[in-house]
Amino acid sequence: MEYIRILKYLVQKNVSSVFSGKSQQKLNSVDMDGIVNFLAETNEVIVMTGAGISTNANIPDFRSESFGLYNRLQKYNLPHTTAVFTLKYFKENPAPFYDIAHEMYPVLQNAKPTITHYFIKLLDQKGKLLKHYTQNIDCLEELAGLEGKKTVQAHGHIKTGTCLGCQKSFDFKFLKDKVIKNEIPRCNECSETIKPDVVLFGESLPKEFWNFTSDFSKCKLLIIIGTSLAVQPFAGLAGQVDLNCPRVLINRDQIGDSEMLGSFLTNLFHLNPEFGSTSNTHRDVFLEGDCDKICLQLAEKLGWKEELLKLMDENNRNIEEKKSKI
Ligand code: OAD
Ligand code: ZN
Repeated sequence: MEYIRILKYLVQKNVSSVFSGKSQQKLNSVDMDGIVNFLAETNEVIVMTGAGISTNANIPDFRSESFGLYNRLQKYNLPHTTAVFTLKYFKENPAPFYDIAHEMYPVLQNAKPTITHYFIKLLDQKGKLLKHYTQNIDCLEELAGLEGKKTVQAHGHIKTGTCLGCQKSFDFKFLKDKVIKNEIPRCNECSETIKPDVVLFGESLPKEFWNFTSDFSKCKLLIIIGTSLAVQPFAGLAGQVDLNCPRVLINRDQIGDSEMLGSFLTNLFHLNPEFGSTSNTHRDVFLEGDCDKICLQLAEKLGWKEELLKLMDENNRNIEEKKSKI
C-alpha cells in the first residue's frame, strides 16, 4: 500500500513537471559558494542523512568498502547480504543480528555527535531547519540537542524494543543488559524474541515518514549528507522537492542507483535523480569528501565556525559529565 501511495504521487508530480516550463537556476553559481550564498538567505532547509554522518563517531556505515557493515558479514553464511536486517530472516534466526548488536552497543553507547550533527543543530538554531530526515538509528542528532519533533527517524531507533509475540515494549537498558552479555533479549511475558524498534527490510516505515509531502513541498534547499541513497522509499525523498530547488550532496562517494526498484523506475519517477546529470546541472551541487570537513568549511564561509565549535565543545562536555554520573 505504501509503495502504491508513493508511486501515485510521483506519477502526478512527474506529469506536472513536464508541463511546468523550463528549469530556473536559483544559485548564483552551482558550487560551494553558490550554496553558501543561497543558504545565508534561505530558511526552509531540509537535511537528509545516512550512516556516513556517524562514521567519525566510530559507528560503521553499511556500504563503504573498508569499514562498511555489509563487508564484514561473511562469517554468518547469510542467504543474501541484507538478510541480517530483514524481518523474515530475523524471525527465523536473530542470532547474527544480535551478534552485530553485541559488537555495536558499546560503540553506540560511547558515541558522541559529530561536527555534522552539530551543523544540523546550528541550522535549527539559526531558524533555517525545516526538518531533518534520517536513516540513522543512533539518535546522535538528539544527543546534539536537536528537538525530537525536528527529526524524522525513517528507519526507527534503538531507544526501545518490542516483543515479536505479545508486542510488549522494552527500554534501552533492558535490551542493552542482555545484548552486552551476548544474550538474545527475550520477552519476560511470552518468551518471544524482542526486536529493537529499528525498521528492518520488510517492515513499514513510521507514520511520520509518510507526511513527507507537507515538508518537501515547502523545501527551498535540500542538503543530503552521508548516504548512498540506495534504499527506498527514503532515497525517493530526494526527488520530492520542487524541480528547481537546489540540492547539495555532501558525501565521500557519488551516489548510484536504487537497489530495490531498478534503474528504469528510478529514472522514470525521479526516485534517485543523479546529481550533476544534464537535467539537474542548474541546481545540483556535489561536495565530495568528509562531511565533517565540508560542514566546517560551510560554517566558516557562513561566519558560523566559532559558534559551531563552541556548540560542539560545550555540548560534548555536558554529555561526558552526564555519562560519568550514570
Ligand atoms: P551507506 O553505507 O549505504 O552509505 C553511506 C555513505 O556515506 C557512503 O556513500 C559513504 O561513502 C559515505 N560516507 C561514509 N563516511 C563518510 C564521511 N565521514 N563523510 C562523508 N561521507 C561519508 O549508508 P546509508 O545510506 O545510511 O537500512 O544506508 C541506508 C540504509 O541501508 C540503512 O538505513 C540501512 C541499510 O541497509 C536498513 O537496514 C533498513
Ligand atoms: Zn512477549
